[in-house]
Amino acid sequence: MERRKLCLLFKVLRLPPALSRSVGVSFCLLVPESHRFDCYPERRVVVTQQLCESRGCCFIESPPPAGGKRGVPWCFYPPDFPSYSLESLNQTALGMVGLLVRREKAYYPRDIEMLRLDVEFETDTRLHIKITDAANPRYEVPLEVPRAMKKAENPIYSLNFSWDPFGVVLWRRATGTVLLNTTVAPLIFADQFLQISTLLPSKFLYGLGEHLGPLLHSMDWSTLTLWARDVSPTGSFNLYGAHPFYLLMEEGGDAHGVFLLNSNAMEVALQPAPGLTWRTIGGVLDFYIFLGPDPNMVIQQYQQVIGFPAMPPFWALGFHLCRWGYGSTPQTYDAQWNDIDYMDGYRDFTFDSQKFASLPSLVEDLHKHGQHYVMILDPGISSTNPNGSYWPFDEGLRRGLFLNTTQGQTLIGQVWPGFTAFADFSNPDTHQWWLENLQRFHAHVPFDGLWIDMNEPSNFMDGSEEGCPSGELDSPPYTPAVLGDSLSAKTVCASAKQKASVHYNLHNLYGLMEAKATASALVQIRRKRPFVISRSTFPSQGRYSGHWLGDNRSQWKDMYYSIPGLLSFSLFGIPLVGADICGFSGSTSEELCTRWMQLGAFYPFARNHNTQNEKAQDPTVFSPAARTAMKDVLLTRYSLLPFLYTLFHRAHLQGDTVARPLFFEFPQDVTTLGLDKQFLWGRSLLVTPVLDPGVDSVTGYVPRGTWYDFYTGSSMNSSGEMVKMSAPLDHLNLHIREGAILPTQVSTHPSPPLGCPQHVCVCVLHLSSQTPIPCAHSPTAPMSLNPRNQRPPARQPEGTP
Ligand code: NOJ
Repeated sequence: MERRKLCLLFKVLRLPPALSRSVGVSFCLLVPESHRFDCYPERRVVVTQQLCESRGCCFIESPPPAGGKRGVPWCFYPPDFPSYSLESLNQTALGMVGLLVRREKAYYPRDIEMLRLDVEFETDTRLHIKITDAANPRYEVPLEVPRAMKKAENPIYSLNFSWDPFGVVLWRRATGTVLLNTTVAPLIFADQFLQISTLLPSKFLYGLGEHLGPLLHSMDWSTLTLWARDVSPTGSFNLYGAHPFYLLMEEGGDAHGVFLLNSNAMEVALQPAPGLTWRTIGGVLDFYIFLGPDPNMVIQQYQQVIGFPAMPPFWALGFHLCRWGYGSTPQTYDAQWNDIDYMDGYRDFTFDSQKFASLPSLVEDLHKHGQHYVMILDPGISSTNPNGSYWPFDEGLRRGLFLNTTQGQTLIGQVWPGFTAFADFSNPDTHQWWLENLQRFHAHVPFDGLWIDMNEPSNFMDGSEEGCPSGELDSPPYTPAVLGDSLSAKTVCASAKQKASVHYNLHNLYGLMEAKATASALVQIRRKRPFVISRSTFPSQGRYSGHWLGDNRSQWKDMYYSIPGLLSFSLFGIPLVGADICGFSGSTSEELCTRWMQLGAFYPFARNHNTQNEKAQDPTVFSPAARTAMKDVLLTRYSLLPFLYTLFHRAHLQGDTVARPLFFEFPQDVTTLGLDKQFLWGRSLLVTPVLDPGVDSVTGYVPRGTWYDFYTGSSMNSSGEMVKMSAPLDHLNLHIREGAILPTQVSTHPSPPLGCPQHVCVCVLHLSSQTPIPCAHSPTAPMSLNPRNQRPPARQPEGTP
């Protein structure tokens, strides 16, 4: 039952709010379980009736679900829990401005009594609702967002307010579907606890990253925490990035999206009503709502606010090879990437003059053959070198560019080089210093792209070498369900001082700000489109970098999880994304690695990366049969690079997705809403990988229509059905949708035709032989392609329009 209706009931019964709150169980029982909004979300507390009632909430025990999960909350808001009332609402040029007043305090310190409500009808498909402190400025995310110049003329949405208690009801005009209804639970806006709940029109909700799990979220009382964290993706923990954006599929195939522009630690609680609660511990409530109406349009509209992704250089779409633990340059073999072992003592902007003495010439050699070199950088700057011996630290210190403690001292933590200070990328001067460091290093090692790691920022200590001070930033009144139960777990203190604000507010932006500095430095150094891959990300990151999905394991289930992972990042506006092919930690097997190379050949960003001390897993170490299978699928990728590049261009120009969930193209087909073991490139290339061991077939969904086998051109008419496809170990199932035109290329060498980057040939040659043969020295005959790939694959299938 809606809170509004229940409130009405109280009014009919003529119960004063306070009395009705204490009327007890029978009244509380009126709230159906699915609609119980949690009044006591604290994890570490066993909620007793007394504690619950001290907050003025209803307490009813329900059987806990199996597996230690949280189920129906025992302590939940009664329908009349005090909230804000809307006291005034006036028209503005773009919409409305209102005043919200809270007369009774809620239960967290420093409730803000008067709030300002701004509603802007920004476009016909975009609504902006912002709730801030009416009297005092608060921290807001320093993200440039477009400002509407005039009010939307024909919005496809309508809006209504409930005045007391305050609530927003938003619906789609064409269908009448209610997209938001915040009258179901009280609005709470305290200094360090901001919470708003809504009913949702369906359970088909996606986004809200970064987490490991299926693409479609469970509405069965799950909580998703957003607080950047370095941890090998496990369970439902908060991971490297924070993306407070969801996409929801409505009945009938329409879609909408909601973005909360807030960078504080937060959780999003989902429940079966279906309902959703945003719970953040700082900033303001700044919502953008995108009305689509189809999912592709929602993502485009989202990116109109956060910015369209950068256009990657063509070479970024080739196959990347990396590992941690190459040991020295001679062993790097075909490597285009280097992990931290190239550094001297793991210090940024240095290289090991013994083991990597030949790094400059290696890079030069790569360049001669049209290859590129990418190396890792971490934001922790070694702080223990003798004075005058390590310019990055000395100069950073001199210019005051590191995070400081509350006492104004440089905050010291620990990362790979030992004790480190952390660069403050919220300070524009740090960008200049970062550039200077990179220029100095580039003069020795002319790198082409940069891999920015450990930028949550990761710290091997909790907080700092001195821990963190006691105070409301490091120990806030409410701590979201972060891994480690503390904001400073494996990162720096929330109270650390940065130029733009306290780390409490900026933590989730660390990777974004570093990426911005890095991309800008690359442009200034190379005068070319930059290539940056970042571990930590935040909305608008796609403008500066791509992302890899972090420290996965060489396990079949991790291979599967990479698909929902990459599709989620498509939703987040970061199309250049992939997982470590063959798995990062643990030991891969030939079968797993072959299957993973097949799937990975269709990651928009395709990199095989391995941890140290594990068996090598680059394609050349496997049996000839496996090598051939890997080479073939890479050749297929390369033949499709013009198509992929075109998709990226469309992403860059207008926010199209590159790797795309099936439901984006078939939104009215409800079967597609739960599919995350297959995906599309653009509109028309269906990828159906094998994700299980020991099989030679795969069952995948083929949406309604005619589809053509990529290799043979044979057609299949589907009425929208699961199809068993043959999938021997050397075969990846690819199907082209009717009516499609895919631009392709055929690689030849030594002089690649226009549009064939040389590195494509180089990589392929390396893969085909144990001994790398640079492109320029290779035989002049056309590259021998697997017969399956020889037929130009992307002609428009005959007989189609
Ligand atoms: C953590 C990164 O996630 C991983 O990819 C890298 O190999 C290690 N750091 C070492 O730099």
